[in-house]
Amino acid sequence: MSRSITTVEHFIAEQEREHPEATGAFTDILLGISLAAKVISAAVNRAGLIDILGVSGTENVHGEAVQKMDDYANGVLVGILGRCGSLSGMISEEEEGFIHIPESRDPGPYIIAFDPLDGSSNIDVNISVGTIFSVYRKQSAGKKVRKSDLLQPGSAQLAAGYVLYGSSTMLVFTTGAGVHGFTLDPGIGEFLLSYRNMKIPSPGKNIYSINEAYYERWTRGQQRLVERFRSPPDGGASFSARYVGSMVADFHRTLLRGGIFMYPGTRDKPEGKLRLLYEVSPMALICEQAGGRASDGRRRVLDLEPNGLHQRVPTFIGSPELVEMAERFLAVARQSG
Ligand code: AHG
Ligand code: MN
Ligand code: MN
Repeated sequence: MSRSITTVEHFIAEQEREHPEATGAFTDILLGISLAAKVISAAVNRAGLIDILGVSGTENVHGEAVQKMDDYANGVLVGILGRCGSLSGMISEEEEGFIHIPESRDPGPYIIAFDPLDGSSNIDVNISVGTIFSVYRKQSAGKKVRKSDLLQPGSAQLAAGYVLYGSSTMLVFTTGAGVHGFTLDPGIGEFLLSYRNMKIPSPGKNIYSINEAYYERWTRGQQRLVERFRSPPDGGASFSARYVGSMVADFHRTLLRGGIFMYPGTRDKPEGKLRLLYEVSPMALICEQAGGRASDGRRRVLDLEPNGLHQRVPTFIGSPELVEMAERFLAVARQSG
């Protein structure tokens, strides 16, 4: 008997029936993301053939060389989501300011932030990359989008998710009622439900994920923490290290296997590299919905009040017991100075 086939469209309709409070207004956003994911996936899978590899010669707001695929993915998302009637506008890693919806339409009640292509340095070596998104309600009355609408804490997110363009293309998201995963069947062009109600294993696999090349620039507490993972005390369980260099891939493995993904600050860049609004906050909501924990090393990520669209934040995310252990190590190190 064929396994029950649930498309992402069916699943969203099912969720609306089960959660009457879900007005379905951001259904068109999720469906827009699903369509954009299929378009970007097709391009990522043909990247080497249609010459959209390599640097497009421009730099993004962070002064980072923009890979052509970043531009392409950004254009796909802005184009498709720009037609979603329920949006007031968008925040993108690739655009310095807020992207208002066309003046011709009344602004919708929601705002979306996204990282159109995460892990872009990996795209031309055929390593998994992704897209990350986060949906908020516009809080202020009237048509104007105010700064307070854009800088909301992660706890105010209505939905968050990511697309992983890997050996298969997966769409993983939460609307606050658990985390669910869909795998793209390229044969029929549909995202099919493959993981209902994902939970991060705890205790999970002892995997720590960090770029150890920065060891000399870390704080002493961060160095001690990684030394602890590298060589546990007598009888302590040993760890393995995994680092892909695409946050979506490193996080997805952590969600499925457990462990901890870290992108800490360094002495010269204490806030680290990852952006709060469209990388760390959405992953933090997914992680907590799956029973995990997400912190900046001291505070819960979802409680942080953003102070800028592209604000960076140190990141510790994964199995709760390992994130708590990281927080303890860093606290002791701060106290001992
Ligand atoms: P993006 O491609 O959107 O700029 O994100 C890249 C990020 C993230 O995906 C990854 O975890 C991190 O950069 C890797 O940074 P390092 O190369 O410094 O380890
Ligand atoms: Mn990114
Ligand atoms: Mn990016």
